[in-house]
Amino acid sequence: MTLKGGLGPSLLPESLRDQNETVLARIIRDGVLGTPMPPWAFEISEPEALWLVRNLKDGLDDQ
Ligand code: HEM
Repeated sequence: MTLKGGLGPSLLPESLRDQNETVLARIIRDGVLGTPMPPWAFEISEPEALWLVRNLKDGLDDQ
């Protein structure tokens, strides 16, 4: 809820700034094997994952 991480890494704009959006979208859809990050491809399409990444990189309005 704070995007600051805990079990997973921080998803705040400064943490994602230098990361490639295609790679981040792939992480969301495929998950990261051997970590708690689950794959979301069963319900998040590639355009939706890219939308999520771009919004996370831009930051949310209330932050
Ligand atoms: C739709 C919901 C989710 C989104 C959009 C999302 C997004 C992401 C992204 C973008 C990363 C890569 C961050 C980076 O490399 O800097 C990541 C990593 C990670 N996420 Fe998620 N995540 C979601 C749900 C979850 C859930 C439910 C869990 C665990 C219960 C989780 C655990 C993790 C962990 C442990 C990593 C780090 C994996 C590693 O060691 O490389 N995520 N997540």
